[in-house]
Amino acid sequence: MKCRLIALGLLVFLAAPAAMAAEKRPVETVKTVCSKCHGPDGRGVSELFPRLAGQQAAYLERQLKAFRGRDRGDTHARSYMWGVAGAMSDAAIHGLATYLGSRPAPKGEPSADSALVARGKEIFEKGVAERGVPICAECHGAAATGMEEIPRLAGQYRDYLYRQIREFRGLLRRNDVMHDQTKAISDEEALAVAEYLSTL
Ligand code: HEC
Ligand code: HEC
Repeated sequence: MKCRLIALGLLVFLAAPAAMAAEKRPVETVKTVCSKCHGPDGRGVSELFPRLAGQQAAYLERQLKAFRGRDRGDTHARSYMWGVAGAMSDAAIHGLATYLGSRPAPKGEPSADSALVARGKEIFEKGVAERGVPICAECHGAAATGMEEIPRLAGQYRDYLYRQIREFRGLLRRNDVMHDQTKAISDEEALAVAEYLSTL
C-alpha cells in the first residue's frame, strides 16, 4: 500500500511539469508559427487568413484534422495549411484548438455599405425561402457565434467568408452539410451575408 502511494506520488510529481510544458506549448506555437499568418493570438492580420481567436474549439480541432488528412482541399488550404498541419499529433491539435478557442474573439469592422449589410442580415436570419437558401442562423446561432463543430462566423473577414461559401458550393471544401446549405445561394447573396457577418 505504502509502495503504491509512493509510486503514485512519484507519478504525479513527474506528470506535473510535463503537463505544464504541454500547456505552454500551444501558446509558444501560436506565437512563433500561427501568428505569422493568423495575427497575434489568432486575432487576424489579413483577409486571406481567417481569424481563429474565440472560434469554437471543437470546430478548430476538426479543421486541423481535415487539413492534416487533406480532406479540406481548396487552393488556400493546400498551399498554406496542409504543410502546417501535416505532421501534427492529435494532442498538439487539441492543445492549439483549446487555446485559440479560449482567446477573446475580435470585434468585426464597420461597413460603408449599409444596404448590403441589411440584405445580408435578412438572408442570414430568414434565408430565401422561394429559392431554397436556408436560414443560416438556425445552425450558426442568432448572433453567429456557432456551437461545437458549427463555426462562429461573427467578426470573421468578409473575403474569407465569401470564398468559403463558394468553396463549399463548388465542393473543393468537402462538407456535406454546408454543401447542401450553399447549393442555392447566388454570389450576390453570399457576398451580402459575408459583408453582414464581418460587421458583427
Ligand atoms: C503561411 C500562412 C499560415 C500559417 C503559418 C498558418 N496558417 Fe492556418 N490558415 C492559413 C490560410 C491561408 C487559411 C485559409 C485556408 C482556406 O482558405 O481554406 C488557414 C486556415 C486555418 C484554419 C481554418 C479556420 C476556419 O475558420 O475554418 C485553422 C483552424 C488554422 N488555419 C489553424 C492554424 C494554426 C493552429 C496554425 C499554427 C500552428 C496556422 N494555422 C498557421 C494560413 C496559415
Ligand atoms: C444545417 C446547419 C447549417 C446551416 C443551416 C448553415 N450552416 Fe454554415 N456551417 C455548418 C457546419 C456544420 C459548418 C462546418 C463545416 C466544416 O466542418 O467544414 C459550417 C461552416 C460554415 C462556414 C465556414 C466558416 C469558416 O470559418 O471557414 C461558412 C462561411 C458558413 N458555414 C456560412 C453559412 C451561411 C452563409 C449559411 C446560410 C446561407 C449557413 N452557413 C448555413 C452548418 C450550417
